[in-house]
Amino acid sequence: MPDACVFTIFGSTGHLSRTKLLPALYRLDKAGRLPEAMSILGIGRRDWDNSRWRTEVSKWLGERLGNSLEQEAFGRFSKRLHFLSADIGDAGSSAHLRQALDTGPGFPPNHVYYLSLPPSEYKVAADYLALAGLNQEIAGWRRLVVEKPFGYHLEDAQVLDHCLHRNFAEHQIFRIDHYLGKETVQNVFVFRFANLMWEPLWNRNLIDHVQITHGEIAGIEDRAAYYETAGALRDMIQSHLMQMLALVAMEPPASMDAESIRDEKVKVLKSIRPIAKGAVHAHAFRAQYARGRIKDREVPGYLDEKQVDKQSTTETYAALKLYIDNWRWRNVPFYLRTGKRLARNSSLIAIRFKHPPQQLFRETQIQAPPPNWLLMGIQPEQCIRAEVQVREPGIGMRARTTQLDASTCYQAGYQLDAYESLLLDIISGDHSQFLRSDEVEWAWRVVDPIIRAWSVDRAFIHTYPAGSWGPEEADRIFEREDQKWRHSFSVGDAPS
Ligand code: BG6
Repeated sequence: MPDACVFTIFGSTGHLSRTKLLPALYRLDKAGRLPEAMSILGIGRRDWDNSRWRTEVSKWLGERLGNSLEQEAFGRFSKRLHFLSADIGDAGSSAHLRQALDTGPGFPPNHVYYLSLPPSEYKVAADYLALAGLNQEIAGWRRLVVEKPFGYHLEDAQVLDHCLHRNFAEHQIFRIDHYLGKETVQNVFVFRFANLMWEPLWNRNLIDHVQITHGEIAGIEDRAAYYETAGALRDMIQSHLMQMLALVAMEPPASMDAESIRDEKVKVLKSIRPIAKGAVHAHAFRAQYARGRIKDREVPGYLDEKQVDKQSTTETYAALKLYIDNWRWRNVPFYLRTGKRLARNSSLIAIRFKHPPQQLFRETQIQAPPPNWLLMGIQPEQCIRAEVQVREPGIGMRARTTQLDASTCYQAGYQLDAYESLLLDIISGDHSQFLRSDEVEWAWRVVDPIIRAWSVDRAFIHTYPAGSWGPEEADRIFEREDQKWRHSFSVGDAPS
């Protein structure tokens, strides 16, 4: 069991805290995975006391977990919950926080400070903590957790990093990317490095291209204020999709320690070919959802969402082509795409192999069998499947596609969701699934030329109807006509 701590949440009444952090902490507690003496201190501007906070948390968990919220388990969990009304904008109140942490009932000496705040407030929050000496590891450890996006562009991220480092050392900072806590994302690592058989195939000689897709049917929900400043490229690609790319492309680390893993990921990001100013059009595509139908329901377009500027050209869909200039991957395109209000929820890594050197078998009179694919489903299906050709039973020698399923049995036993897994790592002090400062910086370097080009080109943006797979024009980033998006696991979905 890790050390007990006070787990403080700044922005504790916000969306992330309500929908992810508190449900994850509750489930961990219910499963007996939290240290006995751990307390959870919600911090927010509202004038709440412990009792009000406990009532609200019970309501949020009920909305989120439905029947799986057990009253007895919540009763135990709620004893851990405390609330402090404080405003990081009021520097004077940092002394109250210090006092609350020093004198809270049975509060352990170790602290997690989870900044569930807009990134623009990270600096203020770090200064606020330092003002009361809460960054100093004298009595116990201090860990600061920040969410993506870490800044809004490269320079901003560098400034932010500098500000955080003024008060906190790198070993105290946990930059969370919740995709690194997802089961299949962690499985990419095991699948690649616990098996010998993939290694000879995993390179430019046999792989035609790699696709990484995150599609969701949801729109921006109540996050317009954030999304208008972020857009799909910052929201998903700079962080989650770039991390998945790094895991697919990295070399085996020297060991499983956090620094060795992060060293290898950084090498990949550093090797990504910079996108020249004039090449943005060929490498990147953006679009915005228009009105359409999702699950037989009419949904508004982005410009009709609450709090969205009617002239906004913020992208809700982004697609990118990247090349990794190293010995393993040179000239293999990596296609990344993400979109809100797409046809399906589907997060998938799809690796397409090259065709055999000679086509001996025909699926039909004229068509050759499709090449092999390796599909890694992140959600909603969590599985790994290899698509291979076998003989079509009957007369003649025709091939048909079948899938080899390497999924582990995810139904069995207790599964940790991404936040549960990562919150446990924070409490345990394990950095291996968190981003190092240089990793973040290199990821920004990749997308920065696109951000710059798009920010000056605000006159026009393609649209796509909600409920579709995005505009066909997005296909312009493909190198060849036979490269097409793979949307799902269905065999029939393989582009021919
Ligand atoms: C978040 C993005 O980081 O990830 C959201 O800000 C996105 O816009 C979400 O919807 C997707 O995460 P998940 O776990 O629901 O796939």
